[in-house]
Formats: sequence, structure tokens, C-alpha cells
Amino acid sequence: MLEIMRCNLCGKLAMIIRDGGRRTICCDQLMEKLAEQGPGVPGEDHVPVIEKKGTGIRVRVPGIESPMEADHFVEWIEVTEGKKLQVMGLSPGDTPEAEFFGVGPGSKVRVYCEDHGLWSNRPSKPKG
Ligand SMILES: [Fe+2]
Repeated sequence: MLEIMRCNLCGKLAMIIRDGGRRTICCDQLMEKLAEQGPGVPGEDHVPVIEKKGTGIRVRVPGIESPMEADHFVEWIEVTEGKKLQVMGLSPGDTPEAEFFGVGPGSKVRVYCEDHGLWSNRPSKPKG
């Protein structure tokens, strides 16, 4: 669920809310399903860092200069938890971070870097 597809000709990105079982086409060719890269991947400096903050979380993306530059920036940061999706869109000039409220330990964070693709992580389980 919520797969990200990219057209490698025009650059269109699409989020698949429900898979109808057919091919996803753009510019007369198949769109590429983006794989999520996470902890343990070589050069993992884009894995989102998640810190608990109040009733939510703060997400940072290391490995990207702040403020971000037009040729290397995080386009969005998202959090999913159950049926809830929260997304913060970002632009060059922004800081590669976002805060989300009402997020629990069962959530999942993904970030998309224009240059280096899709990265994901999950909050650490509370100790105790
Ligand atoms: Fe990057």
C-alpha cells in the first residue's frame, strides 16, 4: 500500500492508494516502483532520524545540506500510522526536517530525496 511510482522519462511521481492490478503507465512506458532504502544500506546518510517530541515526532534527514539546494533536496517527508497519512512538502531553501503530531510508536516514516530516492525508518520502541 502507498507505493511510490516514478516515470523515468518525465519525472512524474505517483502514490498508489489502491492497486487495481494493472500496469501503471506514463509517457507510454511502465512507471518504476521505487524501493525503500533503510537502515543497513551502504551510504545510509538519508535514513530519516526520528526523535520523540511531545505527542508526536520530529524527523530529520542527515546527509543533506541545510538549507537545501535546488540540485539536492528532500521533496517530502511523510508519516503513516494505520489508516492515517501525514505529509510535509519541502522545497529548496527549506531545512530537511518536519514535525508531526499525534504519532505513536507503530508509525513509519518515509522521505524522498530528488537525487537519492525513497528512504524509510520507524521510531524506536520505547524502552521499559
Ligand atoms: Fe540525496
